[in-house]
Amino acid sequence: MRKVKKAVFPVAGLGTRFLPATKANPKEMLPVVDKPLIQYAVEEAVAAGIKELIFVTSSSKRAIEDHFDKNYELESKLELEGKYELLKTVQDIVPKGVVCLYVRQPEALGLGHAVLCARPLVGQQPFAVILADDLIKSEGPGCLSEMVKAFSYHGGSILGVEEIPISEADKYGIVSTTSLDERISRVDAIVEKPRPEKAPSNLAVVGRYILSPVLFDLLERVEKGAGGEIQLTDAIAELLHHEQVLSYRFTGERYDCGSKLGYLQATVEFALDHPELSDAFRDYLRNVSGCDTPPIASVG
Ligand code: UTP
Repeated sequence: MRKVKKAVFPVAGLGTRFLPATKANPKEMLPVVDKPLIQYAVEEAVAAGIKELIFVTSSSKRAIEDHFDKNYELESKLELEGKYELLKTVQDIVPKGVVCLYVRQPEALGLGHAVLCARPLVGQQPFAVILADDLIKSEGPGCLSEMVKAFSYHGGSILGVEEIPISEADKYGIVSTTSLDERISRVDAIVEKPRPEKAPSNLAVVGRYILSPVLFDLLERVEKGAGGEIQLTDAIAELLHHEQVLSYRFTGERYDCGSKLGYLQATVEFALDHPELSDAFRDYLRNVSGCDTPPIASVG
């Protein structure tokens, strides 16, 4: 059975769409209700059975390392005060048997370059990539679990995709595909941020990937593309000539938390589902909106 054991979290971007909040704080540490985005991403990977978490960080992202490290002072204070539930919350951020590894991307040269920085820690095996700013709310075990299951059956590389309004094609990698079943398709072509009138479809790649290690060789050779960055999409376009690449339409709702609107929508949706907050927050939304039912945000 094909397995994915490692996940790469590129977290070295500059987060310019969220300035000034992201000037000194990593975008991936922005909280949605009470957990930072990167923790949701890690939980999704762990739920998919992944045991090795590889973070591609930069000098301004130390808070991420601290978040996944032990905080002796905090833990002993919580223990002394008998706050055992909070203590468990803090201690369970990284479950037992899961390891965190860190590698630096010295310069923000693009997502493709960030993924390449993880090569020495990934080695010669298939790996997942999760972009924490694409937060996916699922009813089931999560988007990556679904993709890992598809991978165990089909192998190759798999890209998480969703339908977007065609007017937004220039924000995404866009694929053209041949359908294999309800959720899985073969990727025939991929293009980074096409103008809407040039987009081959409205199927956009979002921040979930399972990738073959062959991609690393291709990333080494890729030239700077859109935005002067080394684009993951360009290496995947090359990979299509060598190996099978599939797309997977996941279940659940994705929120682009790298944008202010997407972040606010995610905050509302997660708060409405939060066991401690749900009722009070729903009442609050009713009051501010002046309607009987709260406005449920939807993306895409
Ligand atoms: P984004 O383009 O969404 O993030 O990259 P960004 O560049 O940080 O944000 P904006 O566009 O300036 O607002 C997607 C993911 O890839 C990582 C980012 O941290 C984010 O998680 N990334 C991007 C890197 O790790 N290195 C890079 O050079 C670029």
